[in-house]
Amino acid sequence: SFSHCLFFCVALLLGCPAIHPRCRWGAAPYQGRPTPLQLPLGFLYVHHTYVPAPPCTDFARCAANMRSMQRYHQDTRGWEDIGYSFVVGSDGYVYEGRGWHWVGAHTLGHNSRGFGVAIVGNYTAALPTEAALRTVRDTLPTCAVRAGFLRPDYALLGHRQLVRTDCPGDALFHLLRTWPHFTAVSLRSLPYHGPPPLSLHKCHKVPVPCL
Ligand SMILES: *[C@@H]1O[C@H](CO)[C@@H](O)[C@H](O)[C@H]1NC(C)=O
Repeated sequence: SFSHCLFFCVALLLGCPAIHPRCRWGAAPYQGRPTPLQLPLGFLYVHHTYVPAPPCTDFARCAANMRSMQRYHQDTRGWEDIGYSFVVGSDGYVYEGRGWHWVGAHTLGHNSRGFGVAIVGNYTAALPTEAALRTVRDTLPTCAVRAGFLRPDYALLGHRQLVRTDCPGDALFHLLRTWPHFTAVSLRSLPYHGPPPLSLHKCHKVPVPCL
């Protein structure tokens, strides 16, 4: 659509990574009425998908993973859409989930305060590719700050800092702790706005315009 193309072109001008829009990966429609985010947000939450466990290394595989996660989130979890704001593949590309403008379902109790970005894979014992890491560490947040979606002083957190979960995996979480913007918080030090965490695997539950 024109608006997708416009966004894509503006994103390129802002030095953003290529984001595959929903139409490109074959998203099903959003079910229900999305809640708008109040931008800019102050948090970026990092997740691993855990399932699918293998990193996706090409568009076909990453797009198929997006469709299967969306199906799982909508049909099994009963959510309105894929939970994540964005998903990053080991090809270094970004796949649009709920995007910059709509509240996601990724970080229970904190969804309206931050973007949830997941890297496809299980990073308990292994690390994502450098391409995927660079996207989450540098290019995606830099672009989001320039575009006014993310505060320049944003805090980067692992999912496990806010919800009782292993996500984003030990290996990835230990690396996150060395990144700029990483912020040490503990479950106890933040106000908690949701129902009690139920599971150790919340995460598990989980550059081309479309013309
Ligand atoms: C994730 O990786 C850990 C460590 O290698 C392994 O024990 C676990 O079974 C993996 N889970 C999945 C779903 O692949």
